[in-house]
Amino acid sequence: MWTAGRRLTSPRGKETAVVSKAVLLFGATGDLARRMLLPSLFALHDDGLLGQDIEILATSRSELDDAGYRAMAEKAVREHLSESERTADNLPGFLERISYQSLDIQGGQAGFDQLAARLGGGAGELAIFLSTAPSLFEPTIAGLKAAGLAHDKARIGLEKPLGTDLASSCEINDAVAAAFPEQRIFRIDHYLGKETVQNLLALRFANVLFEPLWNARHIDHVQISVAETVGLEGRADYYDGVGALRDMVQNHVLQLLALVAMEPPSRFDSTAVRDEKVKVLRSLRPVTCDDGVTGQYRGYDGELKRDSATETFVALKAQVDNWRWAGVPFYLRTGKRLAERRTEIVVQFKAVPHSIFSERGATAIPNRLIIAIQPQENIHLSVMAKEPGLDRGGIKLREVPLDISMPDAFAGPRRRIAYERLLLDLIEGDQTLFVRRDEVEAEWQWIDQVRACWAEQGAVPEYYDAGSKGPDSAAALIARDGRAWHD
Ligand code: BG6
Repeated sequence: MWTAGRRLTSPRGKETAVVSKAVLLFGATGDLARRMLLPSLFALHDDGLLGQDIEILATSRSELDDAGYRAMAEKAVREHLSESERTADNLPGFLERISYQSLDIQGGQAGFDQLAARLGGGAGELAIFLSTAPSLFEPTIAGLKAAGLAHDKARIGLEKPLGTDLASSCEINDAVAAAFPEQRIFRIDHYLGKETVQNLLALRFANVLFEPLWNARHIDHVQISVAETVGLEGRADYYDGVGALRDMVQNHVLQLLALVAMEPPSRFDSTAVRDEKVKVLRSLRPVTCDDGVTGQYRGYDGELKRDSATETFVALKAQVDNWRWAGVPFYLRTGKRLAERRTEIVVQFKAVPHSIFSERGATAIPNRLIIAIQPQENIHLSVMAKEPGLDRGGIKLREVPLDISMPDAFAGPRRRIAYERLLLDLIEGDQTLFVRRDEVEAEWQWIDQVRACWAEQGAVPEYYDAGSKGPDSAAALIARDGRAWHD
């Protein structure tokens, strides 16, 4: 936690004021900053959660002055207001915290020294957030270090993508480690900032009900689906260079898998939780070439304005090689331009070991737990119940839902953007919801092996219609095991 500090004079005057606490935002005119970071910082300010003495120093290549940047920030926040059900009453106070310094990251040390001067030497508490192209991470970190901004009260948040394979990820991690120790590195996976994702931990570890059944004895398989309706969204160059596997599975989908599959941590803290997650990630069995399919929506090449073999859909059958999960497949799928936006985890339980109703003509359908993450947030457990009646023609059993709608159960609290939580944790120094180096590297190791398989196989994505459920081969992947996707 940041200790109380005193701002001597404002950094906005550009003189060498000592800033006791600051957020230093790189990539401050980018899409993420406008859509997520500025609205999130405003929300924290609006709710009185951003300490009064915290300054925000924004930086990017654009030639803007403080007023120009504040105008951009105001527009970004206003565009988001209706979604967040907030008013603009506190916007002027928020904008006052912000100052701007343009910086060409590859333009030499002078720019970084100016940043440090703007922060009055920068020796105060500092939360640095890098939302730039990863190719700029190394020069940024070197510049920060040389400017004295990587000191022991500085923490650094890194936005994905952290590399495109294990080797490039290690290179980035090494560059960051040369200036910041792991305890001050905050790797962001914004799925971990989502309330419903955190709720997965509460569901598993704050209830006695599920844990005894959460293993290969009682669970038949797990499905994790992250379906999107959006396509390239102006990120063509980035997306085409990575594809669905690296854009979504390497991080968000594997983090969800780790949270579902991990052993109970001894406490909710950054070491205990991440120790358990990394064990799962390291237990992922290398896939065989039959364990994955890829797809590309029709029209992708047109949007991209060139031919491409990049996958916009991927489905995989993963296996966690440990005692708890032996023989339980985890079917993963994610894709763009699908029929609906839906992120959910389906835990399919096994059938009862012996049905007492079969001689009376009734079948018990195995229980299923569906954890819907977005856009709906609910937990749905299907259980068997007897249809009312005198049962003269035999007993009739029917699946009925036990439904918990999170918005209904918690009608009061505001729904927060994932970045509100993550920015606040970065500012306060809580790493629990950030990804540790060993986790990222275990994720990449598995992903690299999947890609090597595809390369060996000469895999070409199968076309699917935009607005569909994805390629037919995805249905075939799971049907082969006598199962079906939950749609
Ligand atoms: C990002 C991916 O990490 O997550 C995007 O780069 C994707 O391609 C996005 O659209 C999905 O996030 P959310 O929060 O909308 O599910």
